[in-house]
Amino acid sequence: MSAELASTAKSVREFDVEKVRSDFPILQQQINGHPLVYLDNAASTQKPNSVIDAISNYYRTINSNVHRGAHHLSDMATEAFEGARQTVSEFLNSPKKEQILWVRGTTEAVNLVAHSWGRHNINAGDKILVSTMEHHSNIVPWQILAEEKGASVVPIPITAKGEIDLHALEGMLDHSVKLVSVNQVSNALGTVNPVADIVQLAKKVGAKSFVDGAQAVAHFPVDLVSLGCDFYAFSAHKLFGPTGIGVLWGKEELLDSMPPYHGGGEMIETCSFACTTYNKLPYKFEAGTPDIAGAIGLAAAIDYVQSFDRAQISQHENTLLSYCHELAAHCDGLSRVGEAENIAGVFSFLLKGAHPSDVGMLLDQQGVAVRTGHHCAQPLMDALNIPGTVRASFSIYNTKEDIDRLFAALDKVKQFL
Ligand code: ALA
Repeated sequence: MSAELASTAKSVREFDVEKVRSDFPILQQQINGHPLVYLDNAASTQKPNSVIDAISNYYRTINSNVHRGAHHLSDMATEAFEGARQTVSEFLNSPKKEQILWVRGTTEAVNLVAHSWGRHNINAGDKILVSTMEHHSNIVPWQILAEEKGASVVPIPITAKGEIDLHALEGMLDHSVKLVSVNQVSNALGTVNPVADIVQLAKKVGAKSFVDGAQAVAHFPVDLVSLGCDFYAFSAHKLFGPTGIGVLWGKEELLDSMPPYHGGGEMIETCSFACTTYNKLPYKFEAGTPDIAGAIGLAAAIDYVQSFDRAQISQHENTLLSYCHELAAHCDGLSRVGEAENIAGVFSFLLKGAHPSDVGMLLDQQGVAVRTGHHCAQPLMDALNIPGTVRASFSIYNTKEDIDRLFAALDKVKQFL
């Protein structure tokens, strides 16, 4: 690298989990008399100071509406807001920043595509394939659409290990399939799905593909060009950003061809009682004052993640997961749920003789935060024939000590059984 390039390259922080922890003020507290062990990252990650500061600085210094003011603050807010779109675009390796649409989160992204693309492209007799391990938000919007159109939503089976059965998928693909929608990482099992292969299979029969990246983006880099999907979505709050904002990405020609989802300000080009015409991308899909602070917070979160070598983050999380599996193998009465070859960030399990919600409550009393239940994936729980699981989910700031605390707390839970 030339000296000039080297001087402009962003410096990468050495990954040191104790330093990472000090970036997250919420982790420094006691819960129920114990230092917090936060293992509910698949539901929502915590926020580093840089994200909290970016949001607070926006409100302290440049709060104003975007795209429409004739004054300095509005110009500054617009610049930061559109800069955030550029940050997301580079983060996903999107060909154009206009393909990045702000939404409230992954759920809204799926609903947007179902209502806008779906209503104009799904017809009676068509099939939408989703995997058995989808979150309800990647099932129900398609069911609403299918009901309206006389189409059907068909589940792709999973294997006993908790992986999408690719062989079964191949057998299900024919020209009646118009869309294949799958998560990149399962929120309930942590399975990393081979989405690039699934996208290619869908393409063979002319079906479009939607990838729910909500559980993926915090764990490994995503390159939309090599992924090849038609739509991709994620939520900021699972990536150290604020709640209430996320991203829908789509292929430009598809987004261009789709009608607006919501009507209102910013999404029009001209409006009259005789005829309203719509704005260009991305604004056609962004009616109303957007979540400006949220977009700025998300960009700060992306900057935070990218201040590290992402391979080091993945390595750290994989080490935690392996350690967890090692302890689990020696924990009487514990059975893992989901044993895919490739798992990101999630340890789902059952404790013999205990309901998951009781385990969660007893862990919380010891300062260990997990999620319990069906994880908004009831069809998956039905397929596994279980009511739910206890889910510990890891992030950048978790440590081996956190896992030791989890297992020590589980030992205490067992004394109540
Ligand atoms: N989808 C989030 C979870 O898995 C809320 O917990």
